[in-house]
Amino acid sequence: MKSLRLVLAALLTTGTVVAADSQMLQRGHEEEQHSCVQCHSLRLVESQRLSRNSWAKEIDKMIGWGAPVRDRQPLLNYLPRQSSDAKPVPQPELTGSGVPQKSNH
Ligand code: HEC
Repeated sequence: MKSLRLVLAALLTTGTVVAADSQMLQRGHEEEQHSCVQCHSLRLVESQRLSRNSWAKEIDKMIGWGAPVRDRQPLLNYLPRQSSDAKPVPQPELTGSGVPQKSNH
């Protein structure tokens, strides 16, 4: 019985951690929508594949250029996850003719 309780406790704790984590990611997403859309599209942001360190530098560079970031931490959690250098590089968007679209970035 004791071990069952331990397992339950472990499961509950994991659930809480996952919930907190997804809340943090959600805040990162909201921060991105708020702070990173004034000067370029989010495609420019989300098509990057950077390490956590490079994202930190990138965020600071954008803040230096005037990005209205309210809270840097959620972005630092979100962007390296969303656009990690461990992920494959995204395919360019194709037009109906199968030709890659010209980017306006
Ligand atoms: C004040 C305007 C401005 C805001 C706000 C802004 N950026 Fe940028 N960003 C730029 C400019 C200018 C460039 C470089 C020119 C280009 O390629 O369009 C750029 C380019 C980038 C690039 C491409 C790599 C590079 O460094 O050139 C990334 C990634 C990026 N921005 C991320 C972000 C993120 C993340 C945010 C939100 C925290 C953000 N930007 C908000 C102006 C801005």
